[in-house]
Amino acid sequence: MTRRKLVAGNWKMNGVQADLPQVRAIAECAARTPEIDVALCVPFTLIAPAVAVAGGLSIGAQDVHAEASGAHTGCVSAAMLKEAGADCVIVGHSERRADQHETSHDAWAKAAAAHGAGLNVILCVGETEAERDAGRAERVVQAQIEKSVPDNAAPEWFTLSYEPRWAIGTGRTPQADDIAAIHAIARAQLRRMVGDAADGIRILYGGSVTGDNAAAIIGIDNVDGALVGGASLTAEKFMPIIEAAA
Ligand code: G3P
Repeated sequence: MTRRKLVAGNWKMNGVQADLPQVRAIAECAARTPEIDVALCVPFTLIAPAVAVAGGLSIGAQDVHAEASGAHTGCVSAAMLKEAGADCVIVGHSERRADQHETSHDAWAKAAAAHGAGLNVILCVGETEAERDAGRAERVVQAQIEKSVPDNAAPEWFTLSYEPRWAIGTGRTPQADDIAAIHAIARAQLRRMVGDAADGIRILYGGSVTGDNAAAIIGIDNVDGALVGGASLTAEKFMPIIEAAA
């Protein structure tokens, strides 16, 4: 099955209104590459301002609460994201798993809530360096998928992203064979869970993707695009990645 490539930027805790020209420039680049999908996941505070300058570029969030409303100080619901103009959200990012102690079950609940509100979901999985060194990377990723991917995951709204934690922001990336092996295992696990729909679900790679390595990484079997942190912060760095995927 042919899957459209997706390149998504994750601005993490970066970006204020002074950075909106970058959003506009990234949107212009995305408009020149209609054969792929491009999204930019910005801080909550920048969603509405980014949507206002983004033209057709998909603007997303980086987290969501699993409940619809209630006494959760500092949290944001899926309906709030939708109202602000977001059309996708990242859940289960390893920085939230590490810093906020989020579990795969939390990611599952957040994905379900986001889908319920009409948001597309990018769900992240990935092993630590210790887990890879212990030869457990494949088992860890498979278990994370099993526990965090909703049973009704479908290509129309669900994307998986494999992000080895040790590759995030380090300038290190796995060997191509290692990426291919994890993506094949991820696809097989998705197939066990959602059947034929697994063939249409995009599986991104994330972790130190740059303009220099994007084409090679996105060319690997079963890699359907990239989730990009640092190199998505400026149009100058992000554009070569978008172009490499197109
Ligand atoms: O979600 C994207 C991410 O964690 C990768 O970050 O800076 O290594 O591209 P970076």
